[in-house]
Amino acid sequence: MADTEQSTRPGLALVTGASSGIGLAVARELAGRGHDLVVAAEDAAIHTVAAELGAAHDATVRAVQVDLTVPAEVEHLWQEASGAGRPVEVAVLNAGVGVGGRFAETSLERHLGLVDLNVRSTVHLAKLVVDDMVARGSGRILLTASVVATAPSPYQATYAASKAFVHSFAEGIRHELGDAGVTVTSLMPGATDTDFFRRADLLDTPLGQGPKDDPADVARDGVEALMAGKPHVVAGSLKNKVMAEAATHLPDTVTTKATARQTKPQE
Ligand SMILES: NC(=O)c1ccc[n+]([C@@H]2O[C@H](COP(=O)([O-])OP(=O)(O)OC[C@H]3O[C@@H](n4cnc5c(N)ncnc54)[C@H](OP(=O)(O)O)[C@@H]3O)[C@@H](O)[C@H]2O)c1
Repeated sequence: MADTEQSTRPGLALVTGASSGIGLAVARELAGRGHDLVVAAEDAAIHTVAAELGAAHDATVRAVQVDLTVPAEVEHLWQEASGAGRPVEVAVLNAGVGVGGRFAETSLERHLGLVDLNVRSTVHLAKLVVDDMVARGSGRILLTASVVATAPSPYQATYAASKAFVHSFAEGIRHELGDAGVTVTSLMPGATDTDFFRRADLLDTPLGQGPKDDPADVARDGVEALMAGKPHVVAGSLKNKVMAEAATHLPDTVTTKATARQTKPQE
């Protein structure tokens, strides 16, 4: 791509968890809008994904293979992204996993891995991104939370708590950054048709077997909200919006029982 052409393109976008599901769909959406990308994921497949995205959208797409549960690899990702010769103008902190099942019957290692990825790495990378964007006085950040952020969720208790953290964190730093030229948007998808449920051992639940949104629709809603600088967006179907709205008005005792019916493993 010629230098003059590159300078007229929208800025560089960083997307984590971009090898599949919602992150891949967000990366596609951003590439379709003309952004060059730095895409990150844990497995080597991210290199193939980057090559395919670059070819499909005539974009420069750089893959960084990192395990974001490891703090040094979060730092490495940021070095790669910020050292690309152009500022990161859009950051999508999306990588995340779930752990389904009773807390008492699932391994501590998996729960702590979830916290390391969904919570610790999000705060760590957000700090690096925010400091850079504040220094430049511009930037847009999208954090993938979930509609589960609105209510406790038995049988995926650490997951729902992690997404409540991400959502609250997003809205908190958004307020602080009001005058800094940096927007923060919380993306709140409902059940979406990705590899998430298999990886989280949630396939044997009503939620895992129920209807799901198309990741492309979720990504479009997320990127539109990001570009509009909205505080949050409940993405996907109308059902998600109704559920999220209801959960903010109902007591936790009611919402907890309702979510438990969806996430309880079938016996
Ligand atoms: N699907 C849903 O119903 C739903 C609903 C609400 C919110 N979300 C959130 O949406 C986000 C994306 O999930 P998804 O549904 O698209 O699931 P997914 O298809 O399983 O995608 C997860 C992504 O995270 C990456 N990832 C996992 N562990 C990682 C690690 N240790 N280091 C770096 N990257 C890692 C994966 O890369 P590798 O494959 O290389 O490991 C993959 O790119 C998550 O934050 C999830 O909590 C999902």
